[in-house]
Amino acid sequence: MPRPARNAYVCQNCGVTAARWTGRCTACNEWNSLVEEVGATPPGSGLATASKGRVLQLESLSVADTPAMRRFSSGSSELDRVTGGGIVPGSALLIGGEPGIGKSTLLLEVAARLAAAGRRALYFSGEEAAAQVRLRAERLGVASAPVALACDSNLANILATLNDGPAPDLVIVDSIQTLWVDGLEAAPGTVAQVRAAAHALVRFAKASGSALVLVGHVTKDGQIAGPKLVEHMVDTVLYFEGDRGHPYRILRATKNRFGATDEIGVFEMAGEGLREVANASELFLPDRQASAPGSAVFAGIEGTRPILVEMQALVVPSGLGTPRRAVVGWDSNRLAMLLAVLDARAGVSFAAQDVYLNVAGGLKISEPAADVAAAAALLSSIRNVALAADRVFMGEIALSGAVRAVRHTPLRLKEASKLGFKAAVLPAAAEAGAERDPLQRRGLAHVRDLLDVLPPPPP
Ligand code: TYD
Ligand code: MG
Repeated sequence: MPRPARNAYVCQNCGVTAARWTGRCTACNEWNSLVEEVGATPPGSGLATASKGRVLQLESLSVADTPAMRRFSSGSSELDRVTGGGIVPGSALLIGGEPGIGKSTLLLEVAARLAAAGRRALYFSGEEAAAQVRLRAERLGVASAPVALACDSNLANILATLNDGPAPDLVIVDSIQTLWVDGLEAAPGTVAQVRAAAHALVRFAKASGSALVLVGHVTKDGQIAGPKLVEHMVDTVLYFEGDRGHPYRILRATKNRFGATDEIGVFEMAGEGLREVANASELFLPDRQASAPGSAVFAGIEGTRPILVEMQALVVPSGLGTPRRAVVGWDSNRLAMLLAVLDARAGVSFAAQDVYLNVAGGLKISEPAADVAAAAALLSSIRNVALAADRVFMGEIALSGAVRAVRHTPLRLKEASKLGFKAAVLPAAAEAGAERDPLQRRGLAHVRDLLDVLPPPPP
């Protein structure tokens, strides 16, 4: 007699299965995330039905023609840049992001461009009706492109469609959380469904050589399984970031089996779709109030692309016992460290001040090289003097107060000079470029030296 199917409890946050319900997931420590799923395998029961295996064909590492060599352009130069040179046949790509950030818009444009270039692109929408997708296509001006569209969320139907006719070049599934698999009793969007659907689609991609793009919504409340769950199944993971209040969107790779992960793609959401932004600095330095205290321009690098952004600081006397520190676009621990270093090594105390730090435009900076720019903005605000408008700042500050060199200095200087800056405040040990410096250099050895860069206070 077959044993009755046993139920298991699956964490909706990290996907781990447990035999017993607990209030808190033992793997990821999320509270109240375990949900009973019918037929999910409880841990430890996998080997019971193991069969005798077959001998596998062993292969060598030196293959002349790998899929990565046959990559093709997606038709979007920003997407090509993030993926490391285009779409790889047979690969699976996940695009995550909050609802409404522009995932469907980007992918419909990509599908349309590929179709217009004579490739076979299939777009499966489980979220929207055909009329809605058509409306968007019209808005994007791509309605005439020969994209093959189907609006269905049943995985069996999708796989049957995929196996019918020649293998497509690109398959887009929007979104993975709407799919449902026959024979699984769990609701769409649960861990069991998302995992099974992603698995089947990735297997199809590997077998057929079609490139697969999965859309995954990031949700805050954890009601549906997030894209984290399929990250390990796909080759490339891209996240779409951006702020509702700002028009630009950033595509960032967090995993890429076919390229680097430090490149970003920059887009601007306009009335007629996503516009690619090749010159990102112009986007993050609009109408800057250069004469205001507390503003410093950071010459940053994202991947191989220089990006100039304005860092804004506001330092005001605090009425609270514990002064406020608020950061947008930068790491709050990094700010705490910087304030401590300025206090201990440069003798400027912020202990009785509220400190606000903002990266203009809503960009998130993770480079340590932004330390000097942040420190300059903070000092400029607390001293209430504006920094010279034609300067850029870069450099990492150590706990000892020493200013450390940063990579790609010549690239940063070149970009700053292109945008009309005249001088750079940078580590004294910064590497010299091959050509003559485009900017006047002001070297810093210690964070103390930054005080000499500030203009004298107004009388
Ligand atoms: P969408 O691509 O549907 O987001 P997602 O698939 O990530 O959920 O669209 C996101 C938002 O973009 C939507 O609120 C409307 C806006 N939008 C524009 O501003 N311009 C456009 O041309 C389009 C198509 C959408
Ligand atoms: Mg969408």
